[in-house]
Amino acid sequence: MADVSSAAYEEAMALHEQLNYHSHQYYVLDDPVIPDAEYDRLMRRLQELEAQHPSLKTVDSPTQRVGGAPLSGFKTVVHDVPMLSLDNAFSDEELLDFNRRITDRLKSKEPLTYVCEPKLDGVAVSLLYLDGLLVRGATRGDGATGEDITENVRTIHSIPLKLQTSLPPSVLEVRGEIYLPLAGFEKLNDEARKVGEKLFVNPRNAAAGSLRQLDSKITATRPLEMAAYSLGQMKGVDQPQTHFETLMLLKRWGFLVNPHVEVADNIESCLSYYAKMADIRDQLPCDIDGIVYKVNDLALQQRLGFVARAPRWAIARKFPAQEEMTQLLDVEFQVGRTGVVTPVARLAPVFVGGVTVSNATLHNQDEVTRLGIKVGDTVIVRRAGDVIPKVVSVVLEKRPANARDIVFPDHCPVCHSPVERVEGEAVTRCSGGLICSAQRKEAIKHFASRKALDIEGLGDKLVEQLVDQGLVSSVDDLYHLQLEQLAGLERMGPKSAQNLLSALSASRETTLPRFLYSLGIREVGEATARSLAHHFGSLESLCSSTLEELREVSDVGPVVAHFVHEFFQQPNNLEVISRLRQAGVRWSDIEVQDQQSLPLSGETWVLTGAMESMGRAEAKEKLQHLGAKVAGSVSVKTSCVVIGADAGSKLTKAKELGIRLLDEAAFIELLRAHGEL
Ligand code: IVH
Repeated sequence: MADVSSAAYEEAMALHEQLNYHSHQYYVLDDPVIPDAEYDRLMRRLQELEAQHPSLKTVDSPTQRVGGAPLSGFKTVVHDVPMLSLDNAFSDEELLDFNRRITDRLKSKEPLTYVCEPKLDGVAVSLLYLDGLLVRGATRGDGATGEDITENVRTIHSIPLKLQTSLPPSVLEVRGEIYLPLAGFEKLNDEARKVGEKLFVNPRNAAAGSLRQLDSKITATRPLEMAAYSLGQMKGVDQPQTHFETLMLLKRWGFLVNPHVEVADNIESCLSYYAKMADIRDQLPCDIDGIVYKVNDLALQQRLGFVARAPRWAIARKFPAQEEMTQLLDVEFQVGRTGVVTPVARLAPVFVGGVTVSNATLHNQDEVTRLGIKVGDTVIVRRAGDVIPKVVSVVLEKRPANARDIVFPDHCPVCHSPVERVEGEAVTRCSGGLICSAQRKEAIKHFASRKALDIEGLGDKLVEQLVDQGLVSSVDDLYHLQLEQLAGLERMGPKSAQNLLSALSASRETTLPRFLYSLGIREVGEATARSLAHHFGSLESLCSSTLEELREVSDVGPVVAHFVHEFFQQPNNLEVISRLRQAGVRWSDIEVQDQQSLPLSGETWVLTGAMESMGRAEAKEKLQHLGAKVAGSVSVKTSCVVIGADAGSKLTKAKELGIRLLDEAAFIELLRAHGEL
């Protein structure tokens, strides 16, 4: 290190340690301790030092996660310890059979203890560490040989470049799954869609594609993660006795181990673990396609050994598939509230992701072109997470001779007004506005919906009848409906007609945020409506606001400001509002508080753990309304920490610092007291 003063060397090593620590907190434990800006500052300082003293730029430096020079191809790696695959079980029965088989084989009188792990859907990899330093990353390939993807794995922040131990094994091979969390997958596809690039069909595909890049700088832009799930070889350190201890050791050395891993004392607990995970599968941040059960005792694993390419001591219990093949029977065009014409695929019913799917959106013309889809095609439908089903690709080999092109209508299928495609927008719109009964129906459904005026009993079918029979053409007409008119409708008796009238009457008394939301202003969802209401306090003040004033509202950007402004410029809209008021729709104005005088002004709050009654985003928004700042990490500046279930290190830290803590019940009470609930 001829070019390095010892002071520079010491500083660089101290920065390595700090950056590794913070990166582990952020990427592995999901529990950042310092703000991003501070992390960036430390990183820049290290980059500066390395630029001045190039010999400091070692392979394990935290600066080396950005990717290097592109390769011309991947080298082959031979796996000294083969990378195995797993046998599958598709029912509880098959899992019980598995347990019986190996219990008999071991002649065990005691129930076997298993480790239950989510089966992540990504790409299996093997990482080699020599004396604690990451030297190689390889794909599974055929299990015997894979590809050298070292440069790419170095860019993944949850993979330690150096083990967090002063006594590392001389040789360590860690196996695990590299995957793309769903949020990252959606983001990647959103970006690809914007620039007209090909989309990835699912997160696994996207992870595999990202790792196949010869240019690791591209891989570095993909938010990949790795969860460690087993060892290949390990020398120079004693092997733990159980698989669970192995995972805990890997965790201590800095690897991410899936937080849902659990030990089950018998096969019955394995069955309930499966049920529990199947239940929360839709809410997990990443795709899992099943549960892996592994015999916990490593000595027993050894005794059980392998058959062909799979161990006898483990099995994968698969979840119902999230992708299935089916046929596109037809495409219909639906007109939404804002006139957007959406192609909807009518599919031969197929059971996917736990439900029977017979419709899927095809989004817009660009999506139809991108998929190259025709009526009659065999398609792959994906339903994962809580999201609506999507057609992700076409199986071209199965295209029938009579497959027919999907032709977008040039006139609205409902009101026959011309359809237009707005420059810079992917969608086509019916130009009919309120002439179009489809748009009117959607506007009325929205007005009546739960988060708007919440008119109980006014369902979609009823709205359609009311519009089709000419009883209602604008939302204010709802308040002039008569009992006889309603009672004469299909599937409506006098009793339900009376109930609906009562519900309509009750809905007159509303709040300003609900009323603003109910108007169906483009891009104004529930949260924006609330921000607008709290900012302006009254409808009059909002109606007369300028574009500049609108942009001062938190969460309102130029596009939303434009739509809101435009809405209140339209005489038609003002008339509808005035008629609604005449019909008795009313609310109380909100006292506008300046930011300084809100109840939690000047306070910094932190949320940790899961809450039952609301998601984190909602809790954050409510706190912000009350004037608090919401931070991601606990520090001496924190005023209060809200503790949900399974709160982790943030709670520990808050206790250490003696910060005020609120449990969920107390938090809800506080929100109620300040009118946020
Ligand atoms: S263990 C000897 N554990 O599933 C055991 N595999 O079908 C080898 N996978 O190629 C694998 N999550 O890509 C194991 N928790 C987990 C896993 C897991 C996902 C994948 C892995 C493997 C495939 C086997």
